[in-house]
Amino acid sequence: MRVFVAGGSGAIGRRLLPQLVAAGHEVTATTRRPEKTDLLASLGATPVVCDALDRAATAEAVRAARPDVVMNQLTELPPRYEPRKLGPWYEKTSRLRVQGTQHLLAAAREVGARRFIYQSVAFFYQLRGPKVLDEAAPIAVDAPEPFGGAVRATLEGERLALEAAGIEGVVLRYGQFYGPGTYYAANGHFAREARRRRLPVVGRGDGVFSFLHVDDAASAAVCAMSRGHGVYNVADDEPAPAREWLPVFCAAVGAPAPFWAPGWLAGLLAGGFARATLEHGRGVSNRKARRELGWVPSHPTWREGFTAQAR
Ligand SMILES: NC(=O)c1ccc[n+]([C@@H]2O[C@H](COP(=O)([O-])OP(=O)(O)OC[C@H]3O[C@@H](n4cnc5c(N)ncnc54)[C@H](OP(=O)(O)O)[C@@H]3O)[C@@H](O)[C@H]2O)c1
Repeated sequence: MRVFVAGGSGAIGRRLLPQLVAAGHEVTATTRRPEKTDLLASLGATPVVCDALDRAATAEAVRAARPDVVMNQLTELPPRYEPRKLGPWYEKTSRLRVQGTQHLLAAAREVGARRFIYQSVAFFYQLRGPKVLDEAAPIAVDAPEPFGGAVRATLEGERLALEAAGIEGVVLRYGQFYGPGTYYAANGHFAREARRRRLPVVGRGDGVFSFLHVDDAASAAVCAMSRGHGVYNVADDEPAPAREWLPVFCAAVGAPAPFWAPGWLAGLLAGGFARATLEHGRGVSNRKARRELGWVPSHPTWREGFTAQAR
């Protein structure tokens, strides 16, 4: 099949392009930066320089590629994850979620593409109910700003993808990425913070996280080329509370064991939403993705995944 990947140069995109090529697909991938076209070509894609916020340029790029499937893998997030400084970045990413999706969908419809795959988020659920959630759990649309705006924009992008006339929409709600190019990479932002002893277990460390290696994020998108319809949580098999995964992460990246911080201190330093996630976060079940997409993670648990990426 012919596939158009908006955001081919990102953390997922770079792992996705070779997998799509290996599966026999003909891939066109975007970047806004001419200096990255060689990278995209080296990964087996036909590169195209295009800003997804430019409707005409997006239509032209998609027209030239004549894809069967269009993917939105666009985000614009900071290299350092600082909860109190995320506002402007979330606004940029929110524009990509909504406007970028509108432009891509309009272009996809024009060329008769039959499928649209949308990158979404598995940690925007409300922090209540079971510790491990399925796709029907309510979304935290009323989260405090800047998170609330990001949640609502992400949900609106999902709606656009799912309700587009004449196109099958697949929404992949991804867990917390680790692996090359991510915040939890062995040389990523959180590994550096852990080595500086700035990544504590907060409160009782009850907040549950669902992790996902970027290679498995990519392979889920490859599966979604031909299977599934609707919304899928895509994360590894072992949602785990911070008190369990954080010591393993620290050991894997060569950091000292994490210290324990009271909730009020984390709230003071990182804000209420970060504190709530660390103390009350929810994980997700990947059962539906395994069953309907036929997706099998190559890193079923962060326990070996954190160590494997450090190697
Ligand atoms: N679920 C999660 O945990 C999650 C989700 C997303 C990101 N992140 C984190 O965010 C960090 C960066 O991730 P990333 O590499 O995916 O983000 P990124 O470097 O911002 O890459 C995202 C992709 O979007 C493209 N893009 C951004 N704005 C665009 C626009 N206006 N028009 C067209 N393309 C545009 C970029 O292309 P250019 O080549 O033009 O820059 C790039 O291909 C990582 O540490 C990752 O862990 C986490």
